Amino acid sequence: MTDSISARETIAHLRKEIERHNSLYYIEAKPELSDYDFDKLLEKLISLERQFPDLVTPDSPSQRVGGTITRVFPSVQHRQPMLSLSNTYSLGDLEEFYSRVAKLLVLEGVHEQDMVAELKFDGVAISLLYRNGLLVRGATRGDGLQGDDITANIKTIPTIPLRLPDFGSLFPQSEESEIEVRGEVFMRKEDFEQLNDSRPEEDRFANPRNATAGSLKLQDSAEVSRRNMSFVAYYLKGYDGEDTSQFMRLRQLEKLGFFTGAHYRLCHELQDISKFIKDWDEKRWKLPYETDGVVLKLNDVRLWEKLGATAKSPRWAIAYKYAAQQAKTVLHDVVFQVGRLGTITPVAELEPVLLAGSTVSRSTLHNFDEIERLGIMLHDRVIIEKSGEVIPKVISVVLHERPPDTEAIRVPSRCPECGTPLAKPESEVSYYCPNEEECPAQIRGRILHFASRDAMDIKTLGKALVDQFVELKMVKDVGDLYLLQEAQLERLERMGRKSAQNLLSALEESRKKSYERLLYALGIRHVGRATARELACAYPSLSELRQASKEELSTVPDIGPVVARSISDFFSKSSAQEFIEKLETAGLPLRVTEQKEQVNRNFEGLTVLFTGGLDRYDRSQASELVLERGGRVVGSVSKKTGLVVAGHDPGSKLDKALKLGVRVVSEDEFEAML
Ligand code: IVH
Repeated sequence: MTDSISARETIAHLRKEIERHNSLYYIEAKPELSDYDFDKLLEKLISLERQFPDLVTPDSPSQRVGGTITRVFPSVQHRQPMLSLSNTYSLGDLEEFYSRVAKLLVLEGVHEQDMVAELKFDGVAISLLYRNGLLVRGATRGDGLQGDDITANIKTIPTIPLRLPDFGSLFPQSEESEIEVRGEVFMRKEDFEQLNDSRPEEDRFANPRNATAGSLKLQDSAEVSRRNMSFVAYYLKGYDGEDTSQFMRLRQLEKLGFFTGAHYRLCHELQDISKFIKDWDEKRWKLPYETDGVVLKLNDVRLWEKLGATAKSPRWAIAYKYAAQQAKTVLHDVVFQVGRLGTITPVAELEPVLLAGSTVSRSTLHNFDEIERLGIMLHDRVIIEKSGEVIPKVISVVLHERPPDTEAIRVPSRCPECGTPLAKPESEVSYYCPNEEECPAQIRGRILHFASRDAMDIKTLGKALVDQFVELKMVKDVGDLYLLQEAQLERLERMGRKSAQNLLSALEESRKKSYERLLYALGIRHVGRATARELACAYPSLSELRQASKEELSTVPDIGPVVARSISDFFSKSSAQEFIEKLETAGLPLRVTEQKEQVNRNFEGLTVLFTGGLDRYDRSQASELVLERGGRVVGSVSKKTGLVVAGHDPGSKLDKALKLGVRVVSEDEFEAML
């Protein structure tokens, strides 16, 4: 909450400043800021708006520069208004809701009050329209009456069926008409973390919900697809068919191939509801996605219309939200981390404390503005909180318990890693270490980024190894990795002959990766995967890219002045020439090649059978992955089947496979094999 309030203020302030400087520059021809400082302001606005996509307005100066997405999606009218729910944090309110419904039902002559309790997913609500079993439209809620048509983006989400094979049997009367499915697009914790890891430090999303909202608004559906979003369905309406209960509708949704979360429960009395809420308050932390509460719905949907709705929310449902989990602990120390781009992040070292199912001993303090805002001092008693977010944060100081020995948290004047005096641009909240070339933390960060999954994907190059390389000065930049010799490697800690050879062959493999990946792997500020792709299209070789001027770069789709400047700065560094030569000698892909990116042949000669639903792929994607890797996909089990991948609700093929002793793996294991 506070975060977004302070973001709102900062954004408003930045917009005003930017407009003022714009007018000083363009209208009065009396600029007060250098281009560089102006870009910094803009850069900050863009990055904040990315974190809080809800705060983006069409008149923001960011929308002029092509730095963010400007496309407007067509508006569509909802068949029925998409209402929201009334929320409560109190079990007392819930009881009140329950008896209110009971009273209303008595008036209708109904004495049974079954409720369905569902988990509340923290994402973005959307509506899907299927005509004759085919997905024809996906739209956001918008203002409830009209939303944005984001069908192209919706279609990239693997858990949203494009066609409902069992449609005809479930909705025989609806052959020619429509059904509507509503639910929540969300991001699994793992996918969220992977997305953030793949992004430049300064462009990371605050939580999975923001990441989802931002991703659904992208104009590049291919990029949306790479964001790995998921969908949970909680509402089904056949416009002709017979209406059933909410419980049955959820079952029908599952039969149609939708993910429902499967954790819903039919509750006959209030006690069942409280028990569900209490159980999930603990269990929810183990789920692979975030839930922020429980939704209660009257089971009998025929009564929904009878009970009706207020202006915003229906009378037959309510959302119970879990209070953010908090704990009190002691701030022992604040350490300063140096990111790959030199940004200094203060990190709180806390007395370990149990919070929402895990032990917390560290928490980011973001920047020094945040420290000041909290008024926090060393040794203070602090409250930490984990709400929806994966990462806990310090939210306040317990002032009346302040011990006498507190000390101020001092802004370090020098980089904790290399001792270089820190710098802080006027317009930014963060300090940074300007020793880009020599600072070991920045070198480590760049190498780890280079090796990361979405970059060159060098799995055997982990943190412990990179630490050693940098400490022993064996590697100063990513080009040096390719000069490493087996004999040198063998002498390292915890490195035998085998691991040395593994690393060398992984490096060898990485040479076959695409030019596009390499561009991303270089770690140029603001160049994420999508930008790297655009750049690779516009400049099919690194030497062409290097020669491009800022102005030329700004004409590439999605590249605004801030990104253009950052690219041009990267290549105009004095060390750039030598660095690029090193990459060339290393045999890295410095230009686009016709060849498709080489994948491994892990499945060579293996016959694979899929049974049950997969969460992350549809069948054809999964089959494609096997085929690419040299395997074969079959439809029935025999003794010759090499592998069975069992998803959720597997069929009789699984039983047969087990009987025949065929190797069976889960979706996770399958993914690991890939
Ligand atoms: S039902 C008219 N069920 O939470 C009823 N909503 O705070 C419409 N949500 O607007 C919603 N999980 O975006 C429903 N199992 C669930 C849900 C759910 C998450 C979202 C939805 C809703 C918001 C209300």
